[in-house]
Amino acid sequence: MPHLTGNDSPNLAPQAFSNTLLQWFDHCGRHDLPWQKDKTPYRVWVSEIMLQQTQVTTVIPYYERFMASFPTLQSLAIASEDQVLAHWAGLGYYARGRNLHKTAKICVEELGGEIPTTLESLQALPGIGRSTAGAILSISQNLRAPILDGNVKRVLCRYLGMQTWPGERNTEKKLWQIADSFTPHERVDDYTQAIMDLGATLCSRSKPACHRCPFSDSCWAYKNEKTATLPVRKPTKSIPTQRVWVLIIRNESGELFLEKRPPSGIWGGLWTLPQLAEADDTAQQIEQRVEDLAKRNDWTVTSTQTQPLLKHTFSHFHLHMTPIAIQLAGKSMSYNSINEAPQQWATKDQLDTIGLPAPIKKLLNS
Ligand code: ADE
Repeated sequence: MPHLTGNDSPNLAPQAFSNTLLQWFDHCGRHDLPWQKDKTPYRVWVSEIMLQQTQVTTVIPYYERFMASFPTLQSLAIASEDQVLAHWAGLGYYARGRNLHKTAKICVEELGGEIPTTLESLQALPGIGRSTAGAILSISQNLRAPILDGNVKRVLCRYLGMQTWPGERNTEKKLWQIADSFTPHERVDDYTQAIMDLGATLCSRSKPACHRCPFSDSCWAYKNEKTATLPVRKPTKSIPTQRVWVLIIRNESGELFLEKRPPSGIWGGLWTLPQLAEADDTAQQIEQRVEDLAKRNDWTVTSTQTQPLLKHTFSHFHLHMTPIAIQLAGKSMSYNSINEAPQQWATKDQLDTIGLPAPIKKLLNS
């Protein structure tokens, strides 16, 4: 780590770092985000969960809708998982929504109806890691707790000239130590917001605005023209591809046939289109399976059409979906299980309130 190895380091002392950052924040930081008003642990917790892996501009409308429907911890705890997930539809990483709901229930049923206010007890809750716990405590309570999310890792790796991947165990340990030493004793709430804002705005992944950065004189990467290569990228690992057929089954009333996914795994608990594993089936064989399905349900298929492949990449696999549009005769019909999951016919209006996973919405609109 260059800043510790010699006297070529441009870095400031920890207190000068936080002072400089706070001065920048006062003039250039974000001060009117929805979760910065009325900063209760509940409101800050919800915002921090939504902001994990998701940008501020994307989160804002979701946050506003969520708070309008679930203004308190109690109202969230008594909502159904379906209601909560409908508010999450399109944000992605649905485990966050399920964990948020679980955590609300735990807080109300077991922890006296409050979000805990210690690092240890927060981290014991579903979906809250060390950095999120630090953000909740520092922003909502002004308690001195460091954070180290992706944005902060990028800022620190560049500033310090960290030459190893920040996700690597020892590197992460060092980064936590440094994040802790940089965290001031006063104005921790502003400091936390400031370092995240710096990472999200000026110190962005590509094309950082170094000339406007308050650390342009003290950042190792900028001084050494290494902002493009820091932080060091994760060693690449290829991820598998899952291929599925996705059935778009409509009846004459224009209703769409939906299934509920099992509680865990991708899109767990969400309503979505029925899927069939592709295995080695050809389109013809799939059409045969659809015919069998129709027979079992007493459906009359009036047309079947295979549509172009649609690809979506999750963090750990690629999903290749081949949609098959199936038009049925008849308006209101019964159904038998395709994947032994709960099912429903949904009207267009219902689709808006149910909320489908974003790639499925895209597929339906394509
Ligand atoms: N990312 C995570 N938490 C954030 C926050 N409070 N403000 C901006 N970006 C964030």
